[in-house]
Amino acid sequence: MTFVDLKEIRVSYDGKQDILKDLSISMEKGELVSLLGPSGCGKTTTLRVIAGLIKPNDGTFELDKDDLTKVPVHKRNFGMVFQSYALFPHLTIAENVAFGLKLRKESKATTKEKVEKMLEVCGLENLGDRYPKQLSGGQRQRVALARALIIEPKLLLLDEPLSNLDAKLRVAMRIEIKRIQQQLGITTVFVTHDQEECFSISDKVAIMNNGVIEQYDSPEKIYRLPKTKFVAQFIGFENFFEVTKTEGNQYQSQSGQLFTTTNPQPSVTGTVATIRPEDIEITKEVTQETVEGTVVVRTFLGKSYQYEVTTPLGELLVNGTSEQTYETGDKINLAFPADKLVVLEK
Ligand SMILES: Nc1ncnc2c1ncn2[C@@H]1O[C@H](COP(=O)(O)OP(=O)(O)O)[C@@H](O)[C@H]1O
Ligand SMILES: [Mg+2]
Repeated sequence: MTFVDLKEIRVSYDGKQDILKDLSISMEKGELVSLLGPSGCGKTTTLRVIAGLIKPNDGTFELDKDDLTKVPVHKRNFGMVFQSYALFPHLTIAENVAFGLKLRKESKATTKEKVEKMLEVCGLENLGDRYPKQLSGGQRQRVALARALIIEPKLLLLDEPLSNLDAKLRVAMRIEIKRIQQQLGITTVFVTHDQEECFSISDKVAIMNNGVIEQYDSPEKIYRLPKTKFVAQFIGFENFFEVTKTEGNQYQSQSGQLFTTTNPQPSVTGTVATIRPEDIEITKEVTQETVEGTVVVRTFLGKSYQYEVTTPLGELLVNGTSEQTYETGDKINLAFPADKLVVLEK
């Protein structure tokens, strides 16, 4: 059942250019959904519409079938954690966490009980009497999360909450966020521009580009079956070549190369096909569907080597194992497994 429902949201800050263009997205209760996309694509703007910090020019926002489009931010009671999660420096950790309850004039006894429980959920037990400056970055981050969660919000909004942490701590904290989110069953919208971070914790991912959602699917599906060239490029596909459908699930490139795909096909007949470097096979077998190329550059990736290969299809990037390596100038044969070749919608 749909819990969060954004319908045809249009936002223009200056009245000229649309920053969000009829953006629609729905989420189920308890899901963790990420908005992923390059800087400036409209992720924060979308979150601000949900939070009630800005009003959309057009469109509606419903939560649990209630139209909240015109409800102001302080009446929505959502939990929010932003990139710069300023804690109150003169308040203790427990007082920081209790803040939202104090605003609601919650009784002292209930507040104490809830704060204790929330400190425990967020792994901050025994730190309640300290001040923010006495905590590490990761601990402060968890205080911000605890402070957002203590009001038991219907929705938790996180805008790049990990971007001020170093790489190792970011990984630890994203696991923490997922754990707490699951434990409390709280519907969460998570904004990030980091693909790995987003795929690792999300139930669903919306890939945004220039004010529109290009694809909304599970991370597994997006990783394997991007729908558009933008999405494919954003998540690490390489090797794009124009193809035309010949028959059934067969395609032909401009150079006459034939391809077969067993993946879902778009309705358009002339389009672009793509494949990840690690999915192209270097093979001894020569068939109608293999292509010969010449190695131009070899780079070392740790687990594998990557070759830039000149072929009739253009320059391709191909990964190879360390068991068999090739040198600049070597001729190699490439095969494109039908279950790995993806034909894009646009
Ligand atoms: N308050 C504002 N006034 C005018 N333009 C803004 C404002 N906030 C954001 N923008 C513009 O809207 C676009 C989307 O911004 P934003 O939603 O912050 O993107 P993201 O979070 O994906 O980086 C950007 O081009 C940005 O410059
Ligand atoms: Mg942003």
